[in-house]
Amino acid sequence: MSSPKNLILEAKNLTRYYEVSQGAFRPTAIVKALDDVSFQVEAGKTLAVVGESGCGKSTLARQITMIERPTSGELQFDGFDLVNISDSDRRLARQRVQMIFQNPYGSLNPRKKIGTIIGEPLVINTTMSKEEREERVRGIMTKVGLRPEHYNRYPHMFSGGQRQRIAIARALMLEPKLVVADEPVSALDVSVQAQVLNLLKDIQQEMTLAFLFIAHDLSVVRYLADDVMVMYLGRVAEYGESEPIFKNPRHPYTQALLASTPHLKAENRKERVILSGELPSPLAPPSGCVFHTRCPYANDRCTAEIPVLLDLDGNRKIACHGVEEGRL
Ligand SMILES: Nc1ncnc2c1ncn2[C@@H]1O[C@H](COP(=O)(O)OP(=O)(O)O)[C@@H](O)[C@H]1O
Ligand SMILES: [Mg+2]
Repeated sequence: MSSPKNLILEAKNLTRYYEVSQGAFRPTAIVKALDDVSFQVEAGKTLAVVGESGCGKSTLARQITMIERPTSGELQFDGFDLVNISDSDRRLARQRVQMIFQNPYGSLNPRKKIGTIIGEPLVINTTMSKEEREERVRGIMTKVGLRPEHYNRYPHMFSGGQRQRIAIARALMLEPKLVVADEPVSALDVSVQAQVLNLLKDIQQEMTLAFLFIAHDLSVVRYLADDVMVMYLGRVAEYGESEPIFKNPRHPYTQALLASTPHLKAENRKERVILSGELPSPLAPPSGCVFHTRCPYANDRCTAEIPVLLDLDGNRKIACHGVEEGRL
């Protein structure tokens, strides 16, 4: 993270609230799905966003891919101001940021041939002839490890891993600068996961592609991430370079996430933090530090005061009173 030169994505104090109806006679509640989130992604690099289900990861993905507009804050992508973007600029920006989902089958039309599915972005966004498109599609199929002679097959004829390759091929068709991957291997068998991760890594190097890679499994993240952002109830707990965070996680929540990943242990961890209890309701988040209800080190200050994300050692930021006070 030290003096990033070529930023492709930058968020400052990004916030997304949802209004939730609680029934006819009760006031509307607010869910702070994303609360004051700031980060940067360098061109060609990977930022991994991790946290339990319900922490706001997919909400973040929807802001970056322009499916939704943030409630407040700034979001810059490749020279575009995504918060105040015009319709014509949005069309341009959408070609440069693509998304891959957890369940590729849901986004693949079962009645269309995979060659047609992969080539669709070219129909919409270019003036290429049918022959030119077909050639490009066959080229990209080879690149993602699909056999070009399977061009005329239908999605149901492929395995889960191959379907994710189809989704990846379609995402790459317009040569994006950023791919937002929302738990792209979570639904795949472990052996297939590694193959898809290898593919993503190879493609990233070849195409100078940046990833915002969302995962709840930290062992997946370690392999790909340059930077890691750990989220809890819409807020950033710890954020910085990947290696120091894996070697020596400082935030108790990061420690707990690592401890719950069996084959991935922090090397310098002093004590094991066990994540007990459920994620609190986002409709009534805890006061002070949102993690205090599950934190073994919480004191009175933690229940009263929201911790600021502080730059403590140059390569990462941590929002934790205990770390700030030097007692963790
Ligand atoms: N459209 C919506 N309306 C109301 N609440 C939402 C909406 N989308 C997400 N949320 C809430 O925002 C929080 C974050 O959700 P999400 O971004 O899906 O988390 P994650 O991807 O980390 O599991 C959750 O509490 C979820 O219920
Ligand atoms: Mg999600």
